[in-house]
Amino acid sequence: MNKTATRKKPARKTKPAKKRAPAVRQNPKQKLYASLVVQLLSLLKDEHDFIANAANFSALLFNSLPNVNWAGFYFLQGDELVLGPFQGNPACVRIPMGTGVCGVAAQQCETIIVPNVHEFPGHIACDVASNSEIVVPLFDGERLLGVLDLDSPTIGRFDDQDAEGLNELVTVFVAHEEGLDR
Ligand code: SME
Repeated sequence: MNKTATRKKPARKTKPAKKRAPAVRQNPKQKLYASLVVQLLSLLKDEHDFIANAANFSALLFNSLPNVNWAGFYFLQGDELVLGPFQGNPACVRIPMGTGVCGVAAQQCETIIVPNVHEFPGHIACDVASNSEIVVPLFDGERLLGVLDLDSPTIGRFDDQDAEGLNELVTVFVAHEEGLDR
């Protein structure tokens, strides 16, 4: 072998890179909702009083989500929704199914985002400051329990990420309350 020939360095043995699950990048709103799930779980821990938990849940949302002037529940009683624990100004107590944003969301069993409440036919104005709204139905399995309602003074305040985050939160809430005779 030619002495001047350069010798190749033996290839360094490296461990094959471990396959990691791709990091899921969360934007600030998703991070906020993820932190609210943790906080809600901690509020619910060891407590099974439905009203107390619903009250703390509404307070958590009202105080953590920016630009929200009302956050609370309406629960289904017969064929109408009746006001439950909430934070914000006093609100109408009874909403018939199919009426207002809450009644339509309950009837259709769907989350409804209303960018401008003044353009929603039949919107029930409880607080003149409200300009946009999101209503998320609550289910115990197939059974409709009621709705979570959030209002904002900002037009277009709620988007699909709010719908996703709030749906996850109500799922955590209802799963915790499961087995209660409501
Ligand atoms: N705006 C709701 C009524 C409830 S309040 O916003 C608290 C609706 O149209 O159903």
